[in-house]
Amino acid sequence: MKFFIDTANIDEIREIASTGLLDGVTTNPSLMSKEIQRTGKNPDDIIKEICEAVKGPVSAEVISIKTEGMIDEARILSKLADNICVKIPMTNDGMKAVKVLSGENIKTNVTLVFTPVQAVMAAKAGASFVSPFIGRLDDIIIRGMDIIEDIMLIYSNYGFQSEIIVASIRHPLHVLESMRAGADIATIPYSVLLKLMKHPLTDSGIERFLNDYKKIIKSS
Ligand code: E4P
Repeated sequence: MKFFIDTANIDEIREIASTGLLDGVTTNPSLMSKEIQRTGKNPDDIIKEICEAVKGPVSAEVISIKTEGMIDEARILSKLADNICVKIPMTNDGMKAVKVLSGENIKTNVTLVFTPVQAVMAAKAGASFVSPFIGRLDDIIIRGMDIIEDIMLIYSNYGFQSEIIVASIRHPLHVLESMRAGADIATIPYSVLLKLMKHPLTDSGIERFLNDYKKIIKSS
């Protein structure tokens, strides 16, 4: 499974990219606004900087609601870097935009997907990626992972090629469940990515090994 980071924070992106484990980035308008406030940089510069920091796809989201506006924004975004993927919301207007953009070979990531049927619509429109939001479903007592499993089954039934990005991940168990389901990608917040590498037995094991070693060095 590919690991994307769900942030626009360039420091977090560089830090995870330096592990060699980062396959891509997803942003959204909320994450972008945080980064604009933090750095004072303009949105295009933030996106360009992110695209230079990672080789894989970088999703940048449109803020238009209407098809024409989405298409105009997508064409501009797609010129910022070769690895741009334009994030389009799962709406009627959005699907019309995805259809046009896929015809122009502009990569799209259909976002705010909450049902398997929406995921099929996105695939039929030609989306390169679809992003079902599992944490926000869990929040309203609908098991988000059920939607992922259904989409995987339906995509395989009909041979849809769109890659599934498990989004709105809140904790490491979501990542484990995504891998069990065989999802293509999980987009993971920085804090959760750090937790994936941690285990208390790893920490205490290191401490014990070092203490044992120091005892011998002291006594010799
Ligand atoms: C996905 O691409 C979105 O940016 C993201 O995963 C939303 O997550 P949230 O529900 O934690 O805001």
